[in-house]
Amino acid sequence: MTIQWFPGHMTKAKRLITTLLPKVDVVIELRDARVPSASQNPLIDEIIGEVPRVIVFNKADLADPKVTRTWLKEFQSGTTDAVEVDALAGRGVPALMNRSADLVARIRKERGQRTLERAARAMIVGIPNVGKSSLINRMAQKKVARTGDQPAVTRKEQWVRLSPKLHLLDTPGMLWHKFEDQEIGKALAACGCIKEAILNPVEIAEFIIEILDARYPEAVNRRFKLKDNDRSNIVETIGRKRGCLISGGGVDLTKAAGIICREFRGGQLGRVSLETPLERIHAPEDESLDNGDALPLTSNESD
Ligand code: G4P
Repeated sequence: MTIQWFPGHMTKAKRLITTLLPKVDVVIELRDARVPSASQNPLIDEIIGEVPRVIVFNKADLADPKVTRTWLKEFQSGTTDAVEVDALAGRGVPALMNRSADLVARIRKERGQRTLERAARAMIVGIPNVGKSSLINRMAQKKVARTGDQPAVTRKEQWVRLSPKLHLLDTPGMLWHKFEDQEIGKALAACGCIKEAILNPVEIAEFIIEILDARYPEAVNRRFKLKDNDRSNIVETIGRKRGCLISGGGVDLTKAAGIICREFRGGQLGRVSLETPLERIHAPEDESLDNGDALPLTSNESD
């Protein structure tokens, strides 16, 4: 099964970002710190090309800080910088603003450009629910009215003057139009980037538990009161422990899965990461928009 999000919206978003790109000096690309590779949009790479970039590992408050540090190192070089941010609490936001402006200033200087004094112009991109609105509001220190993530809605260019050194051009969030790899879909669903009934919640819960159990077994044991030998049918065991029972003594697996997903998303298992630079969830392939085999989904992009 292949998953596809609103191809029309994605095409418009891609066109809009391509049109606006020449107006900016730096792209601020948001990723989810718990799944930095799975939440990368390969289309963004294709569109942005060599434009300087600051990669933001957002929701860093929910991710394993040690793992996030290894991701940061991986991306800090040349015309790319990387910072960790908690857009809700504002942690890392001043650093992000300064480093975006500094990156542009350094590159202008290296290139001998005559615009050294002009504010750096930035654009924010990222998949839905990665925290773009939260970050923009934090950076602007006010609620910035956005028309939502619907590129179908005609929008004027919206510039936000964040500081004398940094101006921001808001753009619609953008998903890649399709991915073949169900593991990526599960990772995004696990982190709340896809809010889809079509993805089986039990599979998502199993996906979360399998990774966490391999990497953070104590956290799983602590949260769900498991013993080391409670390892077969963990979702069912957790369901039983949490009283998700159906008549006849069986376990309501969907209910148990909902608990696991919610508690992972809410950080109740502690700060955990589903990917490290060495153990990435399989990367999606960039496929043509026009492939009719894809299964259309109703993502929250359309809300
Ligand atoms: P978007 O514009 O990219 O679509 O994302 P948005 O800012 O709307 O954020 C999506 C969800 O992620 C929101 O939660 C928001 O509160 C949460 N969020 C954003 N940044 C961070 C962060 O750094 N840390 C944590 N822990 N959460 C973050 P929601 O439950 O969908 O909405 P709400 O009930 O919080 O309003």
